[in-house]
Parts: sequence; structure tokens; C-alpha cells
Amino acid sequence: MKRVLLTLAVALGLATGATTMLSRPAVAQGAYPNRPITMLVPAAAGGPSDTVARLVAEAMSADLGQRVVIENAGGAGGSLGAGRVAKAAPDGYTLLLYHIGVATFGALYPNLPYKPGEAFDSVGLVTEVPLTVVGRKDLPPADVAALFDWLKGKGAGATFGTAGVGAVSDLCGRFLTDATGVKLTVVPYRGTGPAMNDLVGGQLDLMCDQTTNTANQIEAGQVKPYAVTTRERIKVLPNLPTLEESGVKGFDLSAWHAIWAPKGTPEPIRQKLAASLQKALTDPRVIERFAALDTAPVSAEMATPTALDERFQSEIARWNKLLAGAGEK
Ligand code: MLT
Repeated sequence: MKRVLLTLAVALGLATGATTMLSRPAVAQGAYPNRPITMLVPAAAGGPSDTVARLVAEAMSADLGQRVVIENAGGAGGSLGAGRVAKAAPDGYTLLLYHIGVATFGALYPNLPYKPGEAFDSVGLVTEVPLTVVGRKDLPPADVAALFDWLKGKGAGATFGTAGVGAVSDLCGRFLTDATGVKLTVVPYRGTGPAMNDLVGGQLDLMCDQTTNTANQIEAGQVKPYAVTTRERIKVLPNLPTLEESGVKGFDLSAWHAIWAPKGTPEPIRQKLAASLQKALTDPRVIERFAALDTAPVSAEMATPTALDERFQSEIARWNKLLAGAGEK
């Protein structure tokens, strides 16, 4: 079939080397992008992933000469929104910005209509954000040890806000309950943005959320900080102990964020997006804005399709082990 069409194209004098009618997309790839691009964030607006996405989208819009428009689609820990990108046309006009959660969806949602490890083409890593365990500001316990005692005393009475199964706020809760034996009443939201509003408002007892969403609330005394989830303390909250040093041995969790495109996105388009991401993440103004959010972009080497491929596949393998048997039935 292809051969016949090629002969036809040549006959019609349209064929010139690689750019024949048959590869019209090649021409389109050259002109990419020629309309706005949708960057889907599978979490509510105003939350940590949305904040990172808007920062990167603005810089990439300026570079690509077309608006990169954020669309928020929270729910089911982000697995629903990610599914929309998995099903989208692989033409470079629909992208996914999310995080480590995507690597857990296969284990936690065995009946998903897409395979997270096969449904996306990598564009690049963006940033890696630590999390903090925070309580409403009038929560009785003064520190982590007292918090775990208080939680043990409460049974399952304490409410713990997450962005749904598979969200990093949920993964943190799972680790905490596994490691300490405390019980929590999980309250799922469409993102930790709205959950934070309830925590600040005192309707929620506890959360484990990214510093891009907690550091400013901690500094403002709106929430009570207990611990950070990374192995090392973090510069922005130097006095906050790690869970590791607070006795929760081996606790090490951060939210690496990345950009993906639907599987089958033409290589020239993927490379153009990756180059635009690298340019954005090395732009001093963007770096400054990340710093204002108490985080930093990954290095340009990490903002590549290859680096994300490696990280993503190794994380899928890690979480499949860690979450074995934890999936929805
Ligand atoms: C968000 O932006 O709401 C968070 O990234 C969700 C989560 O906790 O994973």
C-alpha cells in the first residue's frame, strides 16, 4: 500500500526525499507547534504539581512560541488524568506533568485501561520535591515521638488528607502506617491543594505533602511541622528532623516530577519538547522561581527522555515490589 502511494506521490511530483505526502506529519513536525499545547496535571489547581507545571509551562510557551495550557484533572490519585494522556493523539499537543505516582499506578490499579510503563513517551524529569508531615496548628503532639504516641492512642481516629490512592501524599501515609503501626482515617481529595485548605482550617488532622505546598504554611505558622521525609534534612527547614532520625528507619520519599507524552509521539517532536524543557530549567529566572518554592529544577542531564526512561522503569520495578498485593481488588 505504502509503495503504491509513494509511486503516486512521485508521479504527482510531490515527493522530495523524505518529505513525501506519506510523511505529511514530517512537514507538520517541522512546523510543530502550530497551535496551543495542553499540559494535563492530574491533580487539583493550586496544589504542588499544578504549581510546578505552571512555572515550567510559562517558560516552555515562551520558547516554543505557542501557549502551553495547563488543564487540571484530579481524581483517583492522578490515574484518571494520566489515562487521558495515555489515550490522547501522539501529536505533541497533549502532555502529562505529574510525578512518582505514575510509577505506582500499575501496582495500585491493576485494572487500569492503560499500562503506565508502556503508555507514555518520556520527555524529561523536572524537579524532585521533599515532603513534610504536617498537622493542623492546634494538634496536641509537640514532636514526632509524641505524634506517634498520640496516633496510637487515637486508634484510627485521626484524619489524614491525601490526593487519592497512588498520590505521593498517599504513598507517604502508607509508609508511615506500615513503619509505625499507627492507624489513620484517610480522607481523599482531588489534590493536596484543597486538602491543605482543610488542614489550615482545622477540618483535617494531618497530611504528608510536598514542601512546595507546605513550607510557606509552616513559615506562616498555619500548620504544625513534624518531620521531613527525605534521608537528609532540608535547607529550607533546617530544624525539622527527618523521619529517619526520628526512628522511622529507612524512610526516604520525595516527589520527582516529570513530563511525558503519549506513546508514539514522533521523535523530532519529543526532542523539541525535551530541548525546550532543558532550556526552561536552566533559565536563571525559572531557577529563581523554583528557589522561591523551596526546591530546584533537576540538572539538564536529568531533563532528558533517556534519564526519565531509566528513572521511570526502575521506579516501576521498585513500587511493584513495595506495593505487591496492595492493589485494588
Ligand atoms: C498535588 O499536586 O495535589 C499532589 O502532587 C498530589 C499528591 O499528593 O501526589
